[in-house]
Amino acid sequence: MDQIKDQLAKELSQAASLEEVEKIRIQYMGKKGSITNLSKTVNFGAMGPEERKDFGRRFNEIKTWADQALAQAQARLRQGGGAAGPMPVDLTLPGARGSLGSLHPITLVQMELEQIFQGMSFIVGQGYHVESEHYNFDALNIPGDHPAREMQDTFWLTNGMLMRTHTSANQVRMIEAHGVPLRAIFPGRCFRYEAVDASHENTFYQLEGLMVDRNVTISHLIAVMKALLSQVFHRPVTVRLRPGYFPFVEPGFELDCQCLICEGVGCKTCKQSGWIELLPCGMIHPRVLEAGGVDPDQWSGFAFGLGLTRLAMMKFGVPEIRLFNSGDLRFLEQFPAAV
Ligand code: PHE
Repeated sequence: MDQIKDQLAKELSQAASLEEVEKIRIQYMGKKGSITNLSKTVNFGAMGPEERKDFGRRFNEIKTWADQALAQAQARLRQGGGAAGPMPVDLTLPGARGSLGSLHPITLVQMELEQIFQGMSFIVGQGYHVESEHYNFDALNIPGDHPAREMQDTFWLTNGMLMRTHTSANQVRMIEAHGVPLRAIFPGRCFRYEAVDASHENTFYQLEGLMVDRNVTISHLIAVMKALLSQVFHRPVTVRLRPGYFPFVEPGFELDCQCLICEGVGCKTCKQSGWIELLPCGMIHPRVLEAGGVDPDQWSGFAFGLGLTRLAMMKFGVPEIRLFNSGDLRFLEQFPAAV
């Protein structure tokens, strides 16, 4: 009896499914089961009455024990537990595929632009998210009472600092740090106190650039912008300049490129105008050069501020700006892991 009990316990601990437990039950407790038929293995005639009684008691005990052990094994498997013994390993199963992260679409566009500008001998700078009033406004020819301060709604911090409203805040820092001549770009995150909707975010990315040298003219500005855009869009692009006002450039422009979808004929994307407004730019204002310790009679330069978020929307056809900060994997997983 003890042997049968040990054997049953062992088999139950290894059973990995309810079907296996049922087979074991039939084997031990079924009509022809080894427990059911225990009485056939003994010779009652040769037993005294005490022995017979003892056999009957132990026979009932093992049956009760077996019922309980079977019920426990069933319960364990119903709760999703596997075999209680060592887990069987199926070496033929395919391995689990680990998921790799991918680069954010704005990072992809930023990396591409950095490469293009490095090819034209521009250095890449960074700047600070938390800026002083001086670099974000005053040094850019935007004094305290200037109406331009209201053009940009600013997140002010309690210590008098602010979240930079544009990457232009890094212009004078770069000139101070590197001197002239200078070719530099500085991409980064900007913050504005804006109501968020499909095309407005309170945090977005710009890529600012400037070039200062002797005799830099608007022609240089146009040439560099055309080189940049034709590399980003992988074909020659036609651009035009319209007057635009920014206190830190003079003259200031809005640079448009001929619509890449309709080639200037007029379509939905360019609102039938044939042109797409791409980036604000201009010749650096003498006061900005002065703020950076550079003599505007000796040196001149251009500056531009490209909306990285906007460019990523155009390049990848993203219709909704809020997706970029959503952290939604269904969106993010659509972009290639490397450029
Ligand atoms: N800083 C300006 C803005 O955020 C853009 C700009 C940059 C305009 C450089 C001219 C030159 O709107």
